[in-house]
Amino acid sequence: MSRYRQEFEHSLASPDEFWGEVANDVHWYKTWDKVLDDSDKPYYRWFTGAQVNTCYNALDLHVNEGRGSQDAIIYDSAMTGEVRHITYQEMLDETARLAGVLSGLGVEKGSRVVIYMPMVPETAIAMLACARIGAVHSVVFGGFASNELAVRIEDAKPVAVITASCGLEPGRIVEYKPLVDKAIDLSSHKPSACIVLQRPQAQARMIEGRDHDWHDVMKTASAVDCVPVLATDPLYIIYTSGTTGQPKGVVRDNGGHIVSLKWSMKNIYGVDPGEVFWAASDVGWVVGHSYIVYAPLFSGNTAILYEGKPVGTPDPGVFWRIISQHKVSALFTAPTAFRAIKKEDPDGTYLEKYDMSNFRTLFLAGERTDPDTLRWAQNKLQVPVIDHWWQTETGWAICANCIGIEQLPVKEGSPSVPVPGWDLKALDDTNQEVAPGEIGSLVVKLPLPPGSFPTLWNAKQRFFDAYLADFPGYYKTADAGYIDEDGYVYVMSRTDDIINVAGHRLSTGAMEEVLTSHPDVAECAVTGVADALKGQLPLGFLVLNAGCQKDHGDIVKECVQLVRSEIGPVAAFKEALVVVRLPKTRSGKILRGTMQKIADGEPWQLPATIDDPVILDEITESLQSIGYPKA
Ligand code: COA
Ligand code: AMP
Repeated sequence: MSRYRQEFEHSLASPDEFWGEVANDVHWYKTWDKVLDDSDKPYYRWFTGAQVNTCYNALDLHVNEGRGSQDAIIYDSAMTGEVRHITYQEMLDETARLAGVLSGLGVEKGSRVVIYMPMVPETAIAMLACARIGAVHSVVFGGFASNELAVRIEDAKPVAVITASCGLEPGRIVEYKPLVDKAIDLSSHKPSACIVLQRPQAQARMIEGRDHDWHDVMKTASAVDCVPVLATDPLYIIYTSGTTGQPKGVVRDNGGHIVSLKWSMKNIYGVDPGEVFWAASDVGWVVGHSYIVYAPLFSGNTAILYEGKPVGTPDPGVFWRIISQHKVSALFTAPTAFRAIKKEDPDGTYLEKYDMSNFRTLFLAGERTDPDTLRWAQNKLQVPVIDHWWQTETGWAICANCIGIEQLPVKEGSPSVPVPGWDLKALDDTNQEVAPGEIGSLVVKLPLPPGSFPTLWNAKQRFFDAYLADFPGYYKTADAGYIDEDGYVYVMSRTDDIINVAGHRLSTGAMEEVLTSHPDVAECAVTGVADALKGQLPLGFLVLNAGCQKDHGDIVKECVQLVRSEIGPVAAFKEALVVVRLPKTRSGKILRGTMQKIADGEPWQLPATIDDPVILDEITESLQSIGYPKA
């Protein structure tokens, strides 16, 4: 039996033994009563009774074991040109002092802290400082607008917010502080304190009594020690798109998270302590939480924290410059970043300038890696290119080619096989397994492994309804796909209204809610249409109120601006068209899938239950008039 197969089967047959052994690699103040606690099925918990601290495992442990002078983080900003090396000892000192500041502001074990920050090392310090005192952080991606931030503040009810004066996007400075002030105005919950990192590019206006300058408070701060928490206590909440405008607060606990992420660095990514690991994502996304900050630090690596884009900052060689300059062993990014590089430098000429001899593996996730991009990356980099599949909810990979265990052959279009701990099946609507090669709903037999989410913040019923109700005994991933005869998994599409834009997960339902708030819009639909760079882009269909005389072009412009200001620039909502009616089934369900196929120029069938087939001809004509299908 192959080494992968052995590990995989052991993890499913004896989860207690498997994860109990792995957990010996973690520092515990008190070990567990049970590895897997199944006393409240279908809600499972890992390492119940154990006491642990996430920050201790990320920093103190390594300093105590002699890694104090190794870089914990290398901050490389292509936006400012700054490169800063921060050792484990320095990270520990800063984090312990910020934890002291937070305690002084009334943040206690279990309190929430919202972090709305750009890609600077202080963001990681803020997360770890919360973990140090048992506070629960919730990092919000900087590309979200005030309204989205307000929804998260309302839900998480933070004692404090940590922010910066600005983020830096190519060609513009995004002032964060006014966005935070507006979000706090919009929210009925008012955090009592706000810590602001003033960056040289913008000076934030401070509100006396509530706002504190990061640098000022750190000058007089005293360091505090780690507070032991239960393994099952929450470490963070990360909000992710659901089918409505109300995002889902995915909860991550402390113990299982340390165990699984530390294991993943060696076993999935094949990286040893001391090596340099780079996840080119944003700390606001789950990839950033897990692989810019936590996993590399748990395993004693040096993590790159990169502020910039794959192209244009300044050129498509920036990824190779960073790999070469900082001796990166493995890079993890989204396929869209590689499509952007390939578009600007198809021959890979920028690669020739850099010494890539330390670079061993490229990992891609966030969306399916298309075969073209996979081949291009393989040819140019001459290293294994590993597609792997995961979700905010799972916190780490469900499927991967675990090169630290055994490198399996790569199959194009597949994120390879289930990782140990993940009992993945493809089921039909009657909960029966489908035959190899047939498409079904991808589900994971419970329990999910350590590190995956135990619940949604303050929404246990929603957790059950959204993930556990449809396939009793399984977690519904909401991805559809198939498993081939060799056990390789192919993830084909979402089964809900989520779209994937440049590796960012977005809810079309949330965009529709914003569009219907426009006074002239009676009804609307948003679908994700294919885009060569970003994978998908949202496209809106608007039905206007009867008698509306306004210019359609103006209404579309206002709608585009509305989504940008309500959800944020990250929604990348740039195009909509006015239609007379929306195609619907006789029961009133909007045929979004059919509209998407027409826009993409894919074959489609007339749905048997359609109310009025003529409307599809009208939609086809309207789409053609604005240049669809684009490919
Ligand atoms: N703060 C404020 N605005 C932000 C932002 C942030 N942190 N991140 C993105 N934005 C803005 C961008 O400036 C852009 O604004 P614009 O409409 O004015 O141009 C908009 O949000 C859309 O951003 P994005 O979709 O990222 O497009 P882009 O054109 O800036 O860059 C790529 C395209 C492909 C280079 C970029 O999306 C990328 O690097 N993607 C990698 C994705 C990734 O890391 N995913 C995580 C999962 S692994
Ligand atoms: P997020 O929660 O933002 O990480 O997005 C998760 C979703 O992105 C998944 O449910 C998939 O639809 C998609 N996704 C992520 N990685 C992959 C991959 N490697 N292959 C196919 N789809 C992926």
